[in-house]
Amino acid sequence: MGALEGKVAIVTGAGRGLGRGISLALAKEGASIGIAEIDAATGQSTAAEIAALGVGSLAVECDVRDRSKVESTVEAVASQFGGVDILVNNATGARQEDAFRSMLEHTPEQFERQLQVDVLGSFHFMRACHPHLRASGAGRVINLSSSAGTERGAGFAAYSAAKEALRALTGVTAREWGRDAITVNSLCPVAVTDAMEEWFRRNPEIAEKQLESVSLGRHGDPERDIGRVVVFLCGPDAGFITGQTLWVDGGSVIHA
Ligand SMILES: NC(=O)c1ccc[n+]([C@@H]2O[C@H](COP(=O)([O-])OP(=O)(O)OC[C@H]3O[C@@H](n4cnc5c(N)ncnc54)[C@H](O)[C@@H]3O)[C@@H](O)[C@H]2O)c1
Repeated sequence: MGALEGKVAIVTGAGRGLGRGISLALAKEGASIGIAEIDAATGQSTAAEIAALGVGSLAVECDVRDRSKVESTVEAVASQFGGVDILVNNATGARQEDAFRSMLEHTPEQFERQLQVDVLGSFHFMRACHPHLRASGAGRVINLSSSAGTERGAGFAAYSAAKEALRALTGVTAREWGRDAITVNSLCPVAVTDAMEEWFRRNPEIAEKQLESVSLGRHGDPERDIGRVVVFLCGPDAGFITGQTLWVDGGSVIHA
């Protein structure tokens, strides 16, 4: 029997990359998965992979910025599977073409998109899921932040600002929801997705520098290295961990 048998998780932006890997890891432990993805085709394809594992899956086309769509997505998942125990806010407004763009080169549109998807979208989902997480008796929220934010990475002003705002929101919510037995944590990952591999192929010098910064000397895998840690944070052994930031990055960031 899987560690998350009978649990229901919502993962935003799960059509590809880390969201897909996290969804597969949760599903392999028996959780039913609701996928909230702006790209309907990729959302459906992850849902099909999960259904093939023999667990419940539902893909909903959802822009996390749209509060009423977020609310109807949460209700669709809750009514199909009988509740929501786990929320993973993974969707991001980051685009590859925005990477390594100085603060002065940022556009207001880029800044707004980043804040709206990463911060406001997570805010909408946490609020909409709260009654279900409380009813669960062991609710879990994992918000994807980034070492670009915690380390103030040059070239990532909007991304860093959004991810740090989300980390602050995570801590405040952890304090406020603790008495509801809901844990709320931040995870700062480093893992290579198909999209990043393609980008690395076009920018080999960045790929080399990135790998150099990883103490373990290898790239992370979305499902094995990140998804499995999310499984742990969602399971019974992590019930006393809340308001924390976990860097799952092969030792790229090591704080004193
Ligand atoms: N990959 C890494 O090494 C890394 C490092 C640090 C932080 N992160 C964080 O982890 C998360 C996943 O990263 P990734 O590399 O898989 O990203 P990605 O860009 O490959 O995937 C993001 C997903 O979110 C979806 N999405 C975008 N806007 C949306 C919206 N408005 N509503 C719903 N869905 C939307 C996209 O369609 C896509 O499927 C992100 O929050 C990212 O910032 C990743």
